[in-house]
Parts: sequence; C-alpha cells; structure tokens
Amino acid sequence: MTSAWRSAVKSALPRPVREAVVRRRADARRAREHVELYGANRDIDLEPLALLRDAPLEDLRDPERLAELLPRLGLNDEADETWPEALRPSLGRGLLHWQYPVQFAPYLAELSKHGIGNYLEIGTRHGGTFAITVEYLRRFGTIDWAVGLDLMPAPGLARYAAQHREVEHVTADSRSATFRKIVEQRAPIDLALIDGDHSEIGCRADFELLAPHARILAFHDIANEMVPGVGAVWREIRDGMADRYTCLEFIDQYPDVHARTGQGLLGLGLAIRR
Ligand SMILES: C[S@@+](CC[C@H](N)C(=O)[O-])C[C@H]1O[C@@H](n2cnc3c(N)ncnc32)[C@H](O)[C@@H]1O
Repeated sequence: MTSAWRSAVKSALPRPVREAVVRRRADARRAREHVELYGANRDIDLEPLALLRDAPLEDLRDPERLAELLPRLGLNDEADETWPEALRPSLGRGLLHWQYPVQFAPYLAELSKHGIGNYLEIGTRHGGTFAITVEYLRRFGTIDWAVGLDLMPAPGLARYAAQHREVEHVTADSRSATFRKIVEQRAPIDLALIDGDHSEIGCRADFELLAPHARILAFHDIANEMVPGVGAVWREIRDGMADRYTCLEFIDQYPDVHARTGQGLLGLGLAIRR
C-alpha cells in the first residue's frame, strides 16, 4: 500500500479506532525498546508450585519455615551481586522470582490474614512472584481472578493462564488506556502489587491509578537504594497518609550482601486501607 493510500484509509477510520491503533503501536514500540534494554522475559518452570500446593498450612503461615521453602521455588539470577551466597544454588532455576525470602515470607504470611479474593500485579517480569502469590493465596481462600501485567510477553505466565481460567496475563503499559480500562472493569481489587516502572513518576502514577480501587496496595523495592523513586513514593504514603493506610514494611537484608554492596536492597511495603 502506498503512503497516500495508507493515509486515506487511516482518515476514513472512526476516531476511537485510529486512537486505539496509535496506542497499540506505542505499546508495541515501548515493549521492543524494553526487550532491547533488559532482554525478553524468560520461560519459567511451573512445577515447583506443587511445593506450595502440598505444604502444610502451618508451614505457610510461619515466616521462618516459609523463608526456607521459597528458595526451592527458584530465584531470579539478574543483578548477580545482590544475592547472598547461601541462595546461589537457587538462582536461575524454577520460577525465577525476584524476591528475598527474608522479606517475601513475612509479607505472604501477613497477606494470609486478609481474606484476599483477587490479585493484580504490575510488572511481572518472568512471572514467578505473580504465580507464587496466586498459589499461596489460593491455599487460604478462593481466588476469583488474578491479572498480571508487563510491557513484554511472559511465556511462563501465558502457560499458567492457559491452565487457570481465572488468570490473565496482559502485555501493555500500566499507563495505557488498555490497562486503565482493565482496572476499572476488575475493581474492587483486594491486593495490587506495584513492581513495574521504578521511577518516582512511574511508581506514583501506578499508585494514583490503583489507590481508588484497591483495598491493599503492595510496593516492591521500597528499601532499594538503586531505585530511590519507589522509596520516595512509599514514604509519602507511609508518613503522609497515615489516616488512610496502615503501613507495614518487610525490609530485612542479608548481611553478606549488605557488606558487599553497602546498600539496602529490594524491600516490600503494604499499605492497607483503614
Ligand atoms: C523488577 S521487574 C518485576 C519483577 C517481578 N515482579 C518479580 O518479582 O519477579 C520489573 C518489570 O516491570 C515491567 N515494567 C516496567 N515498566 C512497566 C510499565 N510501565 N507497565 C508495565 N510493566 C512495566 C518490566 O518489563 C519488568 O518486567
């Protein structure tokens, strides 16, 4: 098709269709740029999820026992210097989830007390944290729906979604109209984890979109000095919105990593609507 034809066809389309095409192209361009920068999302092995399905409930409620189980599900191997020596055998395997077990275990144990029936995660990467959270919460009640979002497709989560009717993985930008519509259609949201755009502007935009619709907001990287924008938004909520939210932090560090990097890393925060 010549460019003259292309613009003639384009101008004949109704405005909402033209805008949707422009949005989809912008999302696709952003995804391509992201793949070039960070590498595509990798496939994950979903088999270790059976460990969560089979574990006694008292082990899942106990942060110490859960922190021993989580590495067996398989950890992410990006940012090599940020992992403690003791966890090295678990890196690059299984679900590739990007969480410190000393933080993720007490976070999940806290969530088990809140009657959560649906879950949304912005920034799933390969999908480990998303699938683990869904399987964990399912041990404590029914999960009506779960939506994971990332700029890039996640092959492991596509398979996981194919196995579970109530699970959906969406490839889009959290600041797109596509995602805004999903949030509005799915609301009310019991739990939403923000772990996508780690800039202060991006994290705040995700919070502002979700805050009117979510009962519990979770933030990843609140203690991560490599991405200070997330901590800045978290402190605004924790210190400035105490009338609206009860805030809990899961920020324990591994001493050998701290000695090596001199930094606080990762860190989960929960803002629970009062
Ligand atoms: C640190 S990783 C998430 C790790 C994952 N939650 C885990 O715990 O295993 C951040 C992810 O956010 C995605 N991301 C960044 N900006 C985004 C945006 N605006 N909308 C959706 N996803 C975004 C990236 O593609 C990347 O996969």
